[in-house]
Order: sequence, then C-alpha cells, then structure tokens
Amino acid sequence: MRTVASATPSPTTTSLSEQAQAVLRANWREGVHRDGTPYAYTCPATPRYRHQWHWDSCFHAIAWCRHDVHRAREELRTVLRGGRADGFAPHTVFWHNHPRWRRAPLYATQRVRGSRHTTTIGPPLLPFAWERVAAASADEPAFATESLHALEAHLDWLERERDVDDDGLITILLPDESGLDDSPKYDPVYGAYAHYRPGYFRLVARYGRLGWSAHEIAAVHDEHVEDVWVNVAYALSLRAMARLAGDDAYARRADRVEAALLERCLDPATGLFYDLAGRAERPVHVSTWSALSPLMLDTLPQDVRRRLVEEHLLDPRRYRAAFGIPSVAMDEPSFRPGFDLWRTWRGPSWMNVAWLLTPALRELGYHDDADRIASGMSQAVARDGLREYYDPRTGAGMAARGFSWSALVADLASA
Ligand code: GLC
Repeated sequence: MRTVASATPSPTTTSLSEQAQAVLRANWREGVHRDGTPYAYTCPATPRYRHQWHWDSCFHAIAWCRHDVHRAREELRTVLRGGRADGFAPHTVFWHNHPRWRRAPLYATQRVRGSRHTTTIGPPLLPFAWERVAAASADEPAFATESLHALEAHLDWLERERDVDDDGLITILLPDESGLDDSPKYDPVYGAYAHYRPGYFRLVARYGRLGWSAHEIAAVHDEHVEDVWVNVAYALSLRAMARLAGDDAYARRADRVEAALLERCLDPATGLFYDLAGRAERPVHVSTWSALSPLMLDTLPQDVRRRLVEEHLLDPRRYRAAFGIPSVAMDEPSFRPGFDLWRTWRGPSWMNVAWLLTPALRELGYHDDADRIASGMSQAVARDGLREYYDPRTGAGMAARGFSWSALVADLASA
C-alpha cells in the first residue's frame, strides 16, 4: 500500500488555494434555462456530475468565499431559483441539459425526461451556507436579508412536509436525500431497494405514484428514515435562520430538533446517534460519520460531544485514520474504503466531512487532532488533486477528478 505522508512535502496553503480556485473556475456554469430562468452554479465534476446538487452548491458557495464572493452569492441565489415558491428545494436541478438516458432513471423526477428538477430534497444546508456567505459579503451587506422570506419558506416546507409524526425530526424517503447515497446504514432499511440495487427504480416509481408525499408514504411504507445527519443539517440551518432573521422562533425549533436527537437517537450503550427507520422507528445500529455528526451542535451537553470524540473519532480502530475521517467506522464489517463505481459512502474519507467536523474538535480543545486531520487531507490533495474521495489508509484519491467541494481543503488547511 502506497502512503502519502513521507514522500510529499507539506503543501502550502497558497498552492492548495490555487488548486481549489482552478477547479471551482473550471466547473463554473452560467446561462439561462429554456424557461427563461438565469442560473450560475458550480457543477460537482465532469463528466459524471454536470447538474446542480443542493448540498454540493452549499459547500461550493462556502469555498468560493475566499476566491470570488460574488460567485458564492450567485450560486446560493441559483439554489433558491431552482426550487418552488412554496419552499421546496430540490436535490438536483438540471439547468442546461437533461440527465443522459442511462442515468435519467436514477433521478427521482416527475417524468423520466423533461423535468427541471428532482422531486426529492438534499441535506438542508442552505440557511447555514447563506449565513457563511453573508459574513463574507462586506461588499454587499444586503445579501444577508435579501431572501429571508424564501429561506423561511424553505424551512417551513421541511417542517410541514417532512416532520410527518410531529416529533421535531424530519424524514427522508430515499437514501440519497441525505447525500450519503449508498451508506451501509441504509442496507438494513432499504434492502433490495437500496440505492445501488435494481429495486431502487421500483421504489422511485412507487413513491412517484404517491406523489412524493412523505405523509402518505410514511403512513403505509417502511422505507424511510429519520436520518441523524439530515437532522443535524436542519438544526444548523434553523440556528443560522434565527440569527439571519433575528427571530427566536427558529432557535426554539432548533432546540426541539436537538432535544429529539438526544432523546430518541442517542444510544446510551455506545454514545452514538442512530437513525430511526420505518413506521416502528427502529434504531439502525451502524456506525457511520453521520452517527458522529451531532458533534457539530454546540448546544448539546459537553459530555455527549466529548464521548463522540474520545470513544469514536479518536479511536484508531474506528475513525482515527491516517487520512481524514472515514465515512464508515473502520471496525464495521461493511467498511470498504476502496473505489467502487456503483457505491459511495462505504468507507472513504470525504473533504466535506473533515471540514464539517474539525471546527467542533477545535472548539472542544482537540487542536492537535484537528490539525492532523487537516494536514492529512492537504497531503492527499497535494498528491492526487481534488478528488471525489480519498482512501483513509493511504490518502490515495479516488473516483471523480476535479471534484468541486474538495475545494474546501483551502478552508480546512487555513483554520
Ligand atoms: C454523489 C455523492 C452525493 C453528491 C453527488 C454530486 O452522488 O454521493 O453526495 O451530492 O455525488 O456530487
């Protein structure tokens, strides 16, 4: 196994920043959709990911802030324009071309071809990203409040349409709504309908017949999840919204989500947070980075957060890897960190995960560990460029090249 560390000199923040900017610029797309709507966004990578993805764009906008904040704002405005006035924001928007016929059935759209966007959602990070971009917008301070109504409508849509049992937690219908498409935590829930299995198309068709109504689907089917990571993203966005709008009602909603995560998802035996699946809300006992993601919620009790760090994130048998934070605990039987054309999120280290979790490590005082993670990801980028994901044991870059959200490395390295 080839490792990166000894052979590669420490990359400078300037060279990482230059690489990040080059990839973001190469992947920038702008134009006007045939229905007259203007768009400007960064595609994740060509040729595989040519469209606009919700959470990708949130990360791209944050990454753009240090290079061209105008583009950061345009990317987030385009996310809003891709959705509907009722607050629905799609997982994927097809601005300038349709999915190719072979990939088209993978997207949950109203029709196989011709829909401008999917009927599914992505991890709800938009208000979270909006606040970051607003903080970098000294040249245009009005950005912070120009779309409050639309952002509120989006969060209200999520509560109305996706908190089906009114317990504070929102539900996802398909595994890719979390962005973690083929994560092994979905295997016991989706079985033959998992994202990487042929049954997935049948599930998409079945949910399409129910009009993509989570209320109707959750009443009669079991293939849906109250997903920990998605609810962490939701809570982060509710907190950002409270600050952007100066409205405490959103902070109280965030309190409710966080209380539900603590009461219903936290497993006292392991200290991990598990998803709740189906009508019976069965906890899914698979350790993935999502089970650690409540670490980002700084209002959770310190002992709960420290336990996630000390018993999991820093355990060399679980998540303490040479490069980044593995997407699945290394002691899970399903841990497969190598390249897989059909299945993602089954072990490799992703840049956005390292970027999301390391600030919490710093805040709790684990500076050396945060530095180690940042340096491992920087070394991997210095050798193999901005890739879709990296082998946590060797740092080898895998899957798509020129992958846009890996531009977060510049932020990670300079924190
Ligand atoms: C892959 C990832 C997903 C991402 C998409 C576009 O499907 O699993 O998280 O949003 O690519 O980059």
